[in-house]
Formats: sequence, structure tokens, C-alpha cells
Amino acid sequence: MGGRTPLLVLTFSLAVLSIKLGISHGCRETERKALIDFKRGLHDPSNRLSSWVGEDCCAWEGVGCSNISGHVIKLDLRNSRRCKWALRGDITPSLPSLQQLNRLDLSGNYFMHKPIPKFLGAFRRLTYLNLSGAGFMGRVPAQLGNLSTLQHLDLSYNCYWDDEVENSGWISLLTSLRHLNMTWVSFTNAANWLQDLNALPHVQEIELISCDLGTFPRSLSHVNFTSLTTLDLRGNYINSTIPDWVFNITSLEFLYLGGNDLHGFFPDSVTKLTSLKALDLSGTQLSGSFPDWLGNIKNLKSLDLSSNSLCGSVPASIGNLSLLQHLSLGSNDLNGTISKGIGQLKSLVDLDLHENSLSLSEDDLANLSSLEYLDISYNFIELNKSDDWIPPFQLQSLSMDFCQIGPTPQFPQWLRTQTTLRQLQLSSAGIKDMFFDRLPSSLEYLDLSYNSLHGSLPASLGNLSMLRSLDLGSNNLNEAFPNWLPSGLRYLYLSDNKITGEVPQFFPKLKYLYLSNNSFSGNLSPRITNTMPSLQWFDLSMNNMSGEIPFSYWKTSSNLLLLDLSSNKLVGGVPDSLCNLQMLESLHLSHNNLSGQIPHCLKSCTELATLDLGHNNFIGNIPTWIGESLLYLKTLSLRSNAFTGSIPQLSSLPSLRILDLSNNNLSGTIPQSFGDFNALKSAPTYQCCYFNNDSLYVEGSELEYTTRQLSMDTLIDLSNNYLSGNIPEELGNLHGLRSLNLSKNYLIGQIPWSIGRMKQLEVLDLSRNNLSGAIPSDLAALNFLNHLNLSYNNLSGRIPNGNQLQTFTDSSIYAGNPNLCGPPLTKNCTLNIAKAGEEEQNEDSSKSRMETLWLYTSITLGFIIGFWAICGSLLLQQTWRTSYFRAIDNMFDKLYVMMVVTVAKYKRKL
Ligand SMILES: *[C@@H]1O[C@H](CO)[C@@H](O)[C@H](O)[C@H]1NC(C)=O
Ligand SMILES: *[C@@H]1O[C@H](CO)[C@@H](O)[C@H](O)[C@H]1NC(C)=O
Ligand SMILES: *[C@@H]1O[C@H](CO)[C@@H](O)[C@H](O)[C@H]1NC(C)=O
Ligand SMILES: *[C@@H]1O[C@H](CO)[C@@H](O)[C@H](O)[C@H]1NC(C)=O
Ligand SMILES: *[C@@H]1O[C@H](CO)[C@@H](O)[C@H](O)[C@H]1NC(C)=O
Ligand SMILES: *[C@@H]1O[C@H](CO)[C@@H](O)[C@H](O)[C@H]1NC(C)=O
Ligand SMILES: *[C@@H]1O[C@H](CO)[C@@H](O)[C@H](O)[C@H]1NC(C)=O
Ligand SMILES: *[C@@H]1O[C@H](CO)[C@@H](O)[C@H](O)[C@H]1NC(C)=O
Repeated sequence: MGGRTPLLVLTFSLAVLSIKLGISHGCRETERKALIDFKRGLHDPSNRLSSWVGEDCCAWEGVGCSNISGHVIKLDLRNSRRCKWALRGDITPSLPSLQQLNRLDLSGNYFMHKPIPKFLGAFRRLTYLNLSGAGFMGRVPAQLGNLSTLQHLDLSYNCYWDDEVENSGWISLLTSLRHLNMTWVSFTNAANWLQDLNALPHVQEIELISCDLGTFPRSLSHVNFTSLTTLDLRGNYINSTIPDWVFNITSLEFLYLGGNDLHGFFPDSVTKLTSLKALDLSGTQLSGSFPDWLGNIKNLKSLDLSSNSLCGSVPASIGNLSLLQHLSLGSNDLNGTISKGIGQLKSLVDLDLHENSLSLSEDDLANLSSLEYLDISYNFIELNKSDDWIPPFQLQSLSMDFCQIGPTPQFPQWLRTQTTLRQLQLSSAGIKDMFFDRLPSSLEYLDLSYNSLHGSLPASLGNLSMLRSLDLGSNNLNEAFPNWLPSGLRYLYLSDNKITGEVPQFFPKLKYLYLSNNSFSGNLSPRITNTMPSLQWFDLSMNNMSGEIPFSYWKTSSNLLLLDLSSNKLVGGVPDSLCNLQMLESLHLSHNNLSGQIPHCLKSCTELATLDLGHNNFIGNIPTWIGESLLYLKTLSLRSNAFTGSIPQLSSLPSLRILDLSNNNLSGTIPQSFGDFNALKSAPTYQCCYFNNDSLYVEGSELEYTTRQLSMDTLIDLSNNYLSGNIPEELGNLHGLRSLNLSKNYLIGQIPWSIGRMKQLEVLDLSRNNLSGAIPSDLAALNFLNHLNLSYNNLSGRIPNGNQLQTFTDSSIYAGNPNLCGPPLTKNCTLNIAKAGEEEQNEDSSKSRMETLWLYTSITLGFIIGFWAICGSLLLQQTWRTSYFRAIDNMFDKLYVMMVVTVAKYKRKL
């Protein structure tokens, strides 16, 4: 007893001491609770927070505690993988209980278009805050200005809309800041942005890409940026000359001003920036001849002057840039040869000369011993070296798309010496003959699309054992496809040829298989999912496949995301086994002779975003579970079948943008709830607008895929059915709808005036119904309308005129309405008819006070749609196939710059 007491006392006092010193092994209860509460606010589909149980929160994934005080000091939940790994939801207000937090990284997750919470300003010890690509929306709270210890702030790639007034005053309070990234934050009304930044004495890097900066302030009383090394202002459509103060920031090493409307003379003050290592003036308005003095910026390692209007020849003085590694002069009007200048740059690694009028031969390249990436697409290339020429370089990537190759049509033997060549692009290069024996076996990516290859493929292609991606689209290949292609292929594009025989198989790693528009025939082989277990995209549309969709085809283990069997000769029903494809996001079975009902089990394919069963012989009702279970549906096309019954409730589908039920036997009324389609009402609901490689190309390509087939990105088509009743006024809520076709039904009543609020409407067809009354004058407010048909109804009164309606001079769009009068009809309005029309118009004008408001909304909406198009416009610019390669090759930066430029251009158009 007596001996034990001192020990107890000692233990006790040690415990007290450790509490006093704050030494702790577990985490603090208040902080644990705050974290649990934070977790409760999040949906975690991939269970990333599974370790967040038990007492010791310091051991939880992403949580870091101080060794000394035990306080939580770090919360790092960055998601750099696919959308599916994103935490989704809200940040609960309990989070600021983590008072000692100095590092918070929530980037790449998805905060549901909520604003950035104001209470983040309460973390007084924060040094690092990263909310990049996290699906926030709305204004950046000025409370962030309280974070006076912050050194790194990254708010890039969220969804900030144009109408957000952005006052940047709070930025000037972040006096500890080193790195600032506010890419995509709108600075439209932040006139003082430059002064605010100039107040940051330690700032080293500033990235403000596509921020609507508008203009460069001409003068700055004193340039305080003594530590600034990086200034990135790309994509801001700044319309001015480069102001002189930029050239006073002598610490600058990286200056990126591409994607602006910078004009005027090429600024020779650039030579004052003696530390400059990288200069990007791509996509600006620079014109005239190539500046001679560029050769004086001796430290330059990277120079991008692409997409300007520089003309003439490249001066020899550029050969003085002995450190230059990256040179991009693509898309200019340069001519002549390059041998004296560029041809002397021994350090050059990456040379992009695409789209000029340069004449190039192997001699010009004879000194470029460091060259690895060469793009000479769209130029005149003369390949005349004898077969024993050995180039001084080892290329990794060579692009010769659209090259006029002359005068020897033979392909250069020296390609074989390029034993590290991974990428070869020879699209549209007029290639007729196979030369595969001349290709180095290191090739991973080969693009031979849009050439004149014919017959079958030579066996030597099988030797390219490293090949991952092969594009032979749009040639004249017309024999059966060999199965000896390299088995490591991930991507195979054979669309738009005349290939016959059986569908290629036995590619265990293949993820993407495009066979569209060929002559494949026979039955679908049930083996495909066994022999190609990795397949994610399978496009067999526009072939001659016949027979039934085999029952035993579809394994639950399948990875298929897209299945396109449209435009074949398939018969029979949709087998239940198809529902095993639980990952399926896109199912296209249109233009076949399929019949029967939509299988009930499809209800379990809850990931479906596109369901296209059009142009078949399907019967029965449109199942109600579509509106209840397929909650990710964006496109539903059941057109040209024999569906009967009434239209079910579908408006609970939050993402539906394309609904085509035309040419069926549907009856009953148009549900009033059709005014509630969320994705057609306002901001389109896309899940991720951030740019991690995977989600980008998958989401993007899906978008292109759908719109390629259906030309409009928002559409409702219910034409040619037996629908009756009125057109619900609620349809006017669909401010994002671009095409509405209700023709060939039995609709009655008036055309609701609310249609005038559907400001995005381009197509409106209400012809061949029993509509009566006057045409609402609000239609004149539809500025984008380019197709209108109101013929064969019982409409009466004066045809409204003004604005867009004035442009419809074809009277047939009003034909078959005996009581309509006025231009473009030849019938004069008699007093009576005209009066009826005018009364109608007075009634309308009471509503026109709303007009201004709607106009405002529509401008906003226009931008939102433009914004949404960013993700899409990537592929409009560049096919997704290329972006796929880029993604696997980690060349993502280029794509991203292109996107930035695209955004700028798009906004300019608006
Ligand atoms: C805290 O401890 C971990 C491992 O026990 C160690 O890696 C880390 O450097 C320590 N941190 C500090 C600030 O002492
Ligand atoms: C923020 O996180 C993203 C990844 O989500 C990363 O690319 C970026 O570099 C981070 N920003 C900073 C300033 O560390
Ligand atoms: C934002 O800019 C910083 C440099 O200031 C950079 O480190 C970071 O990677 C950028 N973030 C993203 C997502 O690119
Ligand atoms: C720039 O620095 C000068 C001198 O250090 C100082 O007086 C001025 O207030 C600073 N400008 C800004 C905008 O902070
Ligand atoms: C830029 O530097 C020049 C001297 O090289 C000086 O005369 C001028 O005042 C400076 N301008 C600014 C805005 O600091
Ligand atoms: C730039 O501004 C000038 C006048 O301020 C204008 O004439 C010109 O069209 C603008 N350029 C562009 C590309 O907007
Ligand atoms: C190159 O372009 C310039 C101006 O665009 C023209 O004057 C010159 O004749 C051209 N030279 C050649 C070799 O085509
Ligand atoms: C319509 O009325 C105008 C004058 O109001 C007259 O000149 C014209 O001839 C009439 N046209 C027809 C087709 O009646």
C-alpha cells in the first residue's frame, strides 16, 4: 500500500503535467465532434472517410494534429481522382471549431453549387487554403480578408457567374500571401484589382485566368511587386496594349498574357525583363513581322507566340536564344525557311510550327539535337533525305497532320531510327500506301485518320507491341479486320470505313472501341464481354448487325459505360440480362427493329444518363419508374415507336435536357409539371466542372456523343401523337429550352403568352393542332428563334410583328389559319379582325413589365450556358480522342490552355 502511493502520485502528477503542456495522444473532443459533424454534412459515395470512426481523430484519413498541442492543424481531403471519389454536400458551420487549423484543402470535391461559406474567414491561423475545382458557386466572401496569415490561396475552377459583383478590396488585406490563384473568379466590377494586388508585399505567384479583368490600368504609381515571379493573366480578353509598368516588375520570370486582345506594336520593352524565362503572348492580336530583338532575351526558355498574325520569315537572331527549350509559333502567317534561326537552337526540346506557310526539309532540323516534340502540321514539307540519313534527335512526338508532303511521296526511312517515338499524327496527309514496316516499335499512339488507306491492314502493324491508341477512322479499309493487332491496345477507332466481317475481339485491355459506320455483319457474338473485359465504350452503330441482342452477353462484372448498337438490323426484345450492366451511363438502341416493352429491370441501371430507344417497334406504356429511378437521365429519346397511354411524370429528373417522345401513339394531356424540369429551367446541372483528367474526357465525350446525334442540347419533342388539352402555361418556365415541337397533336386553347419567356428558343413548332385565339405578341421577343411553324390551327387576328418575327417572311408558316391576317399573309386585316388582335395585345402589355426582368435572366442564362459549354467546347475544338491521348500522356496543360482561350473567345462572342 505504502509503496504504491508515491507511484500513484507520480502518475497523477505526470498526467497533470502532460495536460498542462498539452501533450496528448488522442484528439480533442470538441474538434472530434466538429469533424464528425462535418462528415455528417457530406455524401461520401466511395467511402473515403471510412477511417473517421473512433476516438483518435488525429489518426483519421486527411486529418493532421500538432505533435505538441494535439490540436487539429491540418485537414486535407483533396480529391484528385474521378468525380466518383468526390465528397459531396455542404460544409457544416461547426468546422471553425478547429481553431488551430493552418492547412485546409478541399479541392476536387463537390459542394453542390453552394457559396463559399463566410465562416472560413474565422480560421485565424490558416496558411494554406485550397478550394480549387470544388463546385462552389457565387461570390467569394469578403470575410476571407480576415485570413491575414494566409500564404497560399487557391480558389480556381469553381462556378462563379458573370453577374456576381466582385469587389477585390479584401485581397489587399492578405498581407502574408505568396501564391494567389483565382482563376475563373469574375472580376467584372473590380476596378481596383491591380491596386489591391499591389498591396501584397510578398506575393510571388498570381494566377488570374479567365477572370474578366477587362482592362489593364494604364498607370500604377509605384510598382510594389518586388517578389513577383509569375504573372498569369491569360484568357481575360483585355483589349489594350501592354502597359509599361509590367516591364518594371524586373523579378518576373514567367509572364503569361495569352488569350487576350493585346494589340499594337510588339512591345520591345520586354527586353527590360532580364530574368524572363517564359513568355506567352499566344492568341493575342499581335501583327506585323517577327520582332528581331526577341533574340536579346537571353534567359528565355519558353516562348509562345502562336495564334497571332505574325508574317514573313523568322529572323536569324532567334538563333541567339541558346537556352530556348519550348518554341510555339503555330497558327501564324510565317513563310520562308527556318534553317538560319530556329534551325540553330540546339537546346530546343519542343517545336510547334503548325499552320504556317513554312517550307521545311530535313536539312532545317539537322542541328536540333535536343528535339523531342515536333509539330509541323499544315506546312509544306519536303522530305528528300536519302535512306541512310540519321537525324541528330530522338523524337517522342511527331505531328504532320495536313502536311503537303513533296516531292517524294515515299515515307522517310529515318522514322525507323526514332526508337523513342511514342506519338505519330498523320491525319489528312494523303497517305495511300502502307509503310508500317518503317514505323518504330516504340509507338504508343498512332493517328492515321482521314487518309486513303484501303484494303486490309498489313501484318507488320502487329509488331507495334507498345501501341495503346490507334486511329484509322475515315479511310477506305474494306476487308475483314485482323485479330492480331497489338493486344495492349486501350483505344481503337475504326469508324467510317467499309470494314466487313466479324467484330474485332480479343483485346483484353481495350477500353474504347469505335466501329461506327462500317459493314460489320452477322450476329453479335456473346463472347465479347469475355474477350474484352475492360471495355468501357462500345460503339457499333451504323453497321449491318442482325439477329437478336444475345441474352448471355452481359456480365455484371462488365465495365461498360456506353453501348451503342443503333442503326443496325437487330430484332427481338431487349433481354433482361442487359440490365446487368450496372455501370451503364449511355444506351443507344435506336434505328433497329427491336420490339416488346421496355424491360422493367432497366430500373436498376440507375447511372443511365442517356437512353435512346427511338425508331424501333417498342410498345406499351412509357414506364413511370423512368421518372423515379433513372435520376441521372439527361437524354430520353423514345421517338418513332408504338408507345401508348399517357405521358408519365418525368419532371423529377433533375438533369433531363433532351426529351423526345415524338411519333408514338401517346394520348392524354401534356403534364403541367413539364414546367418543372430543373435542367431546362435555369443553370444546367453538371456534376463536375473541374478538370481532373478522367472526368473531363468521359463527361465531355458523353456530351458530344449525345449532341452529335441530336443536334440540340435542350429539346422537348412531343409531336405526332394524340395529345389533347391545352399547352400548359408552365412550359414558359423552361428558360433554357432551345427547341419545342408539339406539332401534329390535338391540342386546343390559346398559345400561352408565357412562351415569350423561353428566351433561348430557336425552334418552335405548334403546327397541325386545334389551337385558337391570337398569336401572342410576346413571340416577337424570342431573339434566337429561327424556325417557327404555326400552320394548320384555328389561330385568328393580326400576326404580331417586330423584332425576330419580322424575319419570317415565308407565309406558309401561318397557312391553314383562315382567320389570321396581316403580313406576311396577303390578306389585309379588316377592321374587325384587326381590333380583335389589338385587344389581345393590350392584355399582353400588362405582362411586358416582366420583360426587363426576363431579359436580365436570359443574359445570365446565356452566360451559364456558355459556361456549361466550356466542358463541351473542348471537344468541339478537338475531338475527344485527342484529349484522351493527352490525358494518358499527361499533356493536360496544353488542353487546359486551349480551354482558357476558348472561354475567352466564347465570352467575346456574347
Ligand atoms: C510529428 O511527428 C511525426 C511522426 O511522429 C513526424 O513525422 C513529424 O515531423 C512531427 N512534426 C513535428 C512538427 O514535429
Ligand atoms: C490545389 O489543389 C489542386 C488539386 O486539386 C492542385 O492542382 C493545386 O496545385 C493546388 N493549389 C495549390 C496552391 O497548391
Ligand atoms: C493555382 O496557382 C498556383 C500558383 O499561384 C499553382 O501552384 C496552382 O497549381 C494553381 N492551381 C491549379 C488548380 O492549377
Ligand atoms: C507600395 O509601396 C509604397 C512604398 O513602400 C507604399 O507607400 C504604398 O502604399 C504601397 N502601395 C500599395 C498599393 O500598397
Ligand atoms: C518604371 O521604371 C522607370 C525607370 O526604369 C521609372 O522611371 C518609372 O517611374 C517606373 N514606373 C513605375 C510605375 O514604377
Ligand atoms: C478594342 O477597343 C477598340 C476601341 O477601344 C475597339 O475599336 C476594338 O474593336 C476593340 N477590339 C476588340 C477585339 O474588341
Ligand atoms: C512571305 O510573306 C511576305 C509578307 O506576307 C511576302 O512579302 C513574301 O513575298 C513572302 N515570301 C515568300 C517566300 O513567300
Ligand atoms: C390592303 O390595304 C391596302 C391599303 O390599306 C391596299 O392598298 C391594298 O390593296 C390592300 N390589299 C388587299 C389584298 O386587299
